[in-house]
Amino acid sequence: MSPESTSAWRRLRTHREHLSDVSIAELFAADPDRGPAMTVEHDGIVLDYSKNLLTARTVELLAEFAAERDLDSGLTALFAGDRINTSENRPALHTALRAPADDEIIVDGSDVVPAVHDVLARMGEFATRVRDGAWRGATGDAIRTVVNIGIGGSDLGPAMAYQALRHAAELDVRFVANVDGHDLAGVLRSLDPATTLFIVSSKTFTTTETLLNAHSARTWLQSALGDDAVSRHFVAVSTNTRAVTEFGITADNMFEFWDWVGGRYSIHSAIGLSLMLAIGPGRFREFLAGAHSMDRHFRTAPVLQNIPILLALLGIWYRNFWGAQTHAVLPYDQRLSRLPAYLQQLEMESNGKSVTRDGHGCAIPTAPVIWGEPGTNGQHAFFQLLHQGSVLVPCDFIGVLRPGHDLAGHHDVLMANLFAQTEALAFGRPQPDNGPAPAHRRFPGNRPSSTILLPSLTPYTLGQLIALYEHKVFTQGWLWGINSFDQWGVELGKVLAARITTEFGPDAGHAHDSSTNALIARYRKARSETAGQA
Ligand code: F6P
Repeated sequence: MSPESTSAWRRLRTHREHLSDVSIAELFAADPDRGPAMTVEHDGIVLDYSKNLLTARTVELLAEFAAERDLDSGLTALFAGDRINTSENRPALHTALRAPADDEIIVDGSDVVPAVHDVLARMGEFATRVRDGAWRGATGDAIRTVVNIGIGGSDLGPAMAYQALRHAAELDVRFVANVDGHDLAGVLRSLDPATTLFIVSSKTFTTTETLLNAHSARTWLQSALGDDAVSRHFVAVSTNTRAVTEFGITADNMFEFWDWVGGRYSIHSAIGLSLMLAIGPGRFREFLAGAHSMDRHFRTAPVLQNIPILLALLGIWYRNFWGAQTHAVLPYDQRLSRLPAYLQQLEMESNGKSVTRDGHGCAIPTAPVIWGEPGTNGQHAFFQLLHQGSVLVPCDFIGVLRPGHDLAGHHDVLMANLFAQTEALAFGRPQPDNGPAPAHRRFPGNRPSSTILLPSLTPYTLGQLIALYEHKVFTQGWLWGINSFDQWGVELGKVLAARITTEFGPDAGHAHDSSTNALIARYRKARSETAGQA
């Protein structure tokens, strides 16, 4: 049965009509306990969803919808390693990456948990040697800088987490993702080959951007230190041993993961090696423990107390019943500045789908556009639209109670701004007693937001936060009836780019539409002029 043919969906539609004139201010006035009543907490993480366009009845109906869509079976299938990635016939077992060593999770007849812990132990030994200076480069120098080469899930997760936790980092880590040579060239410019370690991170080890960057980095290294230097300066993280060894990295210098880990769900796998090098194996284990705590909560907490499920249901409420096309993520913590970019891949590559798991067209909208910037920067950029614009943008505000710095006054101002923004969005400004303000100065309010608070930003709480959003995305995908774990939509562009790359030479044909042909011709002309000048 499709989502829109459930009886809860019909009841939600009717309920939505009754809420056409709902006012967040009136809901608060009618229930002085609304704030605490619509706040849930798990292991230090707080979600306050009271400043949303909903009542307790809305949440009950959304929970009934989840029950009718058999979310329980979805959770069981996810955690048991069932092949829920149907188009690729694979499990989506990122939860196994943070399972304790005494858990048992069977895939294809064997327990995957020992292999997860073996790789973790190898990563830990390697990270310790690099951090202690026992691992030496080709010239005998210790490693001072790590460069992660990878893209998409092989970049955004570690880059976001490193940015979030770098206050605790003891090693400098850089990230190169873009095939644009300015990215790699900009990083290499300031590095000493003798003290640089490259991690080539690619699940498939076939990704054009990553392989081109890895080859260029290898050439840079070898021209400085000789051909044999690769074994002391390159390691790989991949599922593809053959391609890694063909590149020239031995199996000893490869850290494995498995096809049941989706790229955008891989930060807790060996893809997190750069993070482990930065913060150390002990703290990386805390990162895994935080995610595992959220896994347990997601699996066991009742729907109305379940933070990922509540966030997912709120998203469905706005996307499907209010027509919201975008959703803003606003971390009030500079350290989380890459979180919106990370969540763009997590949510939009997972749930940006128009076809159901059983191959039919979706009759209802799925993932919104996810976007955002850290506060308070965003306030001086796009918040005008959030307060007075003509579109509905539900927002997640994310705050951290205790800062990681000791500069006086800053954190109070930051947090005051977070609370002020959610208050202004929800309640606006009442008309003054001495007559209405001019139209351009009115703040109507009634704009929804949820607030997530972390006690402090640590490996543990970051692990929780990531798992929270992973499970939100899974829940939405399950309820919408789509496969959150494939990404066929990115394939066509890759095929066309590979073809066009071969068409820049002088004899190449013009086999495209008139726009693409003309654009390619302009580039070919510029390219030949540049070559003529060289
Ligand atoms: O092109 C999309 C994608 O497949 C993402 O899903 C993935 O995270 C990224 O490319 C990188 O893939 P890989 O880790 O195999 O290099």
